[in-house]
Formats: sequence, structure tokens, C-alpha cells
Amino acid sequence: MVIRPDQEPKVLIPQAKIRKRVEELGNQINQDYEGKEIVAVCVLKGSFIFFSDLIRNIDLPLSCEFLGLSSYGNETRSSGEVKVTLDINEPLENKHVLIVEDIVDSGLTLQYIKNSLQTRNPASLKIATLLFKPEALVIDSKIDYVGFQINNEFVVGYGLDYAQKYRGLPHIAYFENEH
Ligand code: IMP
Repeated sequence: MVIRPDQEPKVLIPQAKIRKRVEELGNQINQDYEGKEIVAVCVLKGSFIFFSDLIRNIDLPLSCEFLGLSSYGNETRSSGEVKVTLDINEPLENKHVLIVEDIVDSGLTLQYIKNSLQTRNPASLKIATLLFKPEALVIDSKIDYVGFQINNEFVVGYGLDYAQKYRGLPHIAYFENEH
């Protein structure tokens, strides 16, 4: 797949639709975790905007942790290699941990995170992702909260980048030459 840098990405999921869906996910999480305290893990960099919107829709005691991973470099497909750029130093033992991802593509990054956090003996470990590309999934892992399922295409905006650009777009966008 080739992305031409001269092309402006087109809107795939508008801002209002994202806002509504994030509210719904927050409501669902409020119900599911009623009476519990959550450790929400923001997987950097891509999920920082989704994370900050989602936690503002969660009405439960919550602490925030940040896990820095890089798996892409400037490529648009998953390498399967994950580099930890920032680790969580707080103990997760007996905590209800909610991993917040921007997008699950092959799922290799998610698998890496799950395996790594599971060794810290949380009381529970669940996943929320804004976007999910089911066609690209190569792992057998349950995703607890999915914002939107999308086709197997490269998207940017609302925190997601191509070569570190486009993260500030308020919507999710795609490149037309892909269609
Ligand atoms: P996976 O390991 O293949 O599931 O890839 C997950 C990571 O790759 C995500 O957390 C993103 O950072 C990045 N990624 C996957 N697909 C896209 C995309 O369409 N746009 C931007 N980043 C993506």
C-alpha cells in the first residue's frame, strides 16, 4: 500500500459519531465495573486522545497509567516487533486493569501487552480499542470493548498517525488512493 503525502486524508468516521460511541463505551464500562476501581492503561502514542475522552466518560474511581510502545516506525503494516519506550512502574497486582488501545490490526501488539501485564497478576485484564480491523487479526484474543470495526485500510487522525503526522485530526480519516 502506498500513501501519497500530497493527498489529504478523507473523513471516514466523523467527530460527532466518535463522541457518541465513546460515551456509549464509557456507559458500558460504568455498568460492567460498578463498585470497582479501574487502572486505565493508555497505550502511547496512538491512544492518547481516545484515552482522554474515554476516561472522562467513566464515572468510577480510576487511576491512569501510560505504556509507551512503538511497533511501526514509519511503515503502515505491523512488524510484529514491539519496543517498550515507557513502562508502567506502579504495581498492578489485584487491580482491575483496562488496556486502552487506538487500533487492533494484526493484534500482535495487543498480545504482547496482554502477556506482559498478565505476569503482574492483575485481578482482571480487559481491552478497550477505538478501532478494530477484523480482517487483519492473526491472534485469537477477545477484545472486550470495540468502538468501530473498520475495513483493512490504513487510517489516521484522533491520535493515529502516518509517519507521526495527522494525530491532531478530530475525526478518523483514510487515504483515497487506497480505495
Ligand atoms: P497490530 O500489532 O498489528 O495490531 O498494530 C497495532 C498498532 O499499529 C496500533 O496500536 C497502531 O499504533 C498501529 N496501527 C495499526 N493500524 C494502523 C492504522 O490503520 N493507522 C495508524 N496506525 C495503525
